[in-house]
Amino acid sequence: MKRNFWKTGAMSLYVAVFGLAAAGLTACCGGNACKADGKERAGIVLENIAQRKSVRHFVEGKEVAKADLETLVKAGMAAPTARNSQPWEFYVVSTPEAKQALEAGLPYAKMLTQASAAIVVCGNAEYMLDGEGREYWVQDCSAATQNILLAAEAMGLGAVWTGVYPVRERVEVVRQALSLPTTHVPLCVIPVGFPTGDDQPKDKFKADRIHWK
Ligand SMILES: Cc1cc2nc3c(=O)[nH]c(=O)nc-3n(C[C@H](O)[C@H](O)[C@H](O)COP(=O)(O)O)c2cc1C
Repeated sequence: MKRNFWKTGAMSLYVAVFGLAAAGLTACCGGNACKADGKERAGIVLENIAQRKSVRHFVEGKEVAKADLETLVKAGMAAPTARNSQPWEFYVVSTPEAKQALEAGLPYAKMLTQASAAIVVCGNAEYMLDGEGREYWVQDCSAATQNILLAAEAMGLGAVWTGVYPVRERVEVVRQALSLPTTHVPLCVIPVGFPTGDDQPKDKFKADRIHWK
């Protein structure tokens, strides 16, 4: 793939943030946000962003419908990617055996046992950019991951980003558990389910971290 693009990460960061807001809007479409006027819609989207939280407690035995899992992946695919390279693959895992294999090898993903399913976001080496830009796949797949988390919140579901890449041992665990081809690199595992309500959003606003120039 040819390279002749932004020299710094600043542009891609801007694009990522803008894309997440846009995807928030997309996730709401079909619902109240689309019927609302601009100000109202912004309120709904911003509230969804503020309410998003890592959900680690799920209602056991309550299954997320396949159509809803597909909606989540669709939200992921709507995220921006460097040069529109779309270097992702999504594995939707719902068999108890596969969830168990992931949970057994991932020390910080024990909530998988309660979750209805998990979405594993992977980079695909065949679509990654050449040269210095190759690592943009991490940002691309991260943007997709955040879109999935925001969409889950909007849909009344709970989800949590559990990190895999760049921890080599975890990458190997996921590779083995899902028999991934060598070209697919797992970035994260996102357990998804119906939240019990135990997890709440945190207020992280810090005015002194904003630098006005
Ligand atoms: C790159 C990354 C890796 C993470 N890995 C884990 C993980 O392995 N297990 C987990 O429970 N949470 C994980 N998290 C979730 C963070 O702990 C969580 O986002 C943070 O504590 C802030 O809480 P909030 O998501 O509720 O705002 C990860 C988040 C990111 C962005």
